[in-house]
Amino acid sequence: MPPEQAKRGEHSVIVVVSDRPDRSQPLVDAVRAVAECRVVGTEETWDRIGPLRGVIADITLSRPEAKRCLRLLTSRSARARTPLICLTRGGGQSGFTEARNLGATLCLSALAEPRMVVGSLVREVWPDKSVADLVVTRETQRAGTLMTNLFASAQTGAVDMSNVEQGVAPVLDAIHEGGLSRWLDEVWAHDDVTFQHCLLVSGVVAAFAQSLGLSAADRQLMTRAALVHDVGKSRIPHAILNKPGRLDDDERAVMQTHAPIGHEILSASGGCDAVTLAVTRHHHEMLDGSGYPDKLCASEIGDPVRLLTICDIYAALIERRPYKAPMSNRDALSILSGMEAKLEGGLVQAFGRAVQAVP
Ligand SMILES: [Fe+2]
Ligand SMILES: [Fe+2]
Repeated sequence: MPPEQAKRGEHSVIVVVSDRPDRSQPLVDAVRAVAECRVVGTEETWDRIGPLRGVIADITLSRPEAKRCLRLLTSRSARARTPLICLTRGGGQSGFTEARNLGATLCLSALAEPRMVVGSLVREVWPDKSVADLVVTRETQRAGTLMTNLFASAQTGAVDMSNVEQGVAPVLDAIHEGGLSRWLDEVWAHDDVTFQHCLLVSGVVAAFAQSLGLSAADRQLMTRAALVHDVGKSRIPHAILNKPGRLDDDERAVMQTHAPIGHEILSASGGCDAVTLAVTRHHHEMLDGSGYPDKLCASEIGDPVRLLTICDIYAALIERRPYKAPMSNRDALSILSGMEAKLEGGLVQAFGRAVQAVP
């Protein structure tokens, strides 16, 4: 795990103690939408579990092993009390009292909907955050992990498109749940410039596709293409890729090879759809023929490529770099509008409406 993700994920582990993992599964799934979640049984002694943010006990509290497990937890966290939510079955007030005596900071009925339990967990553990905030953080981490693995395998070999697929839902879910602005806030925290760019473009593409009313299948297709569109950069020397400031002509020529290289990597890997292949090779083509690598003209550039190109340029304009001041949404949109010979005007206008909420 890259240091950035380790740094952001290590204190967000929630442990679910369960004596019936099958029964607890819906709850575990709901917790995993907002945080890393580990499931343990009542035999847990807590001495091998690292830093944790909270515990949900979905167990029959009257059993001796359940009591022992929670007492061990309480003694471990005596100095810094770990939030402990106990789900109680029957017993009414006496069940709540028993749970409180075992260190529960909150008691809920085991019949409560998992989503409601997660809402209470978030208020208990992260009082300054909302469920949506945490979902977006989690999804960004998932997509970030995917980018890391994708670039690592592309550097020397093939890309497994079924792995790429796993990165699509996190982007779409996060955009749906929290909107583009919240996604951007998370992406800025990603310290690798190339990954940040790919996550940025993916979120922008997902938001644009949603605003255009594209079907779920097409939104998925476009987001997948956006995730891998710059995969060819995995084979560009770091000194050029991460150079602070402008590239010289030779460096730019090397950098421009990332589009055909990406196409080559995906073609050789197999299992890649035609839209993703076209987007990867052609996302720097311009309608007036001034782009690269094939100097295509308007009629040769399909809609998915046109759409991604607008998102790609926009992302590059608003990107945050230590050596340049960030460009506002308004200024970035006005640059896009000024590129009328190169980009499709109607699509640029629709794009402006899609990202108007971005500050
Ligand atoms: Fe590119
Ligand atoms: Fe790009």
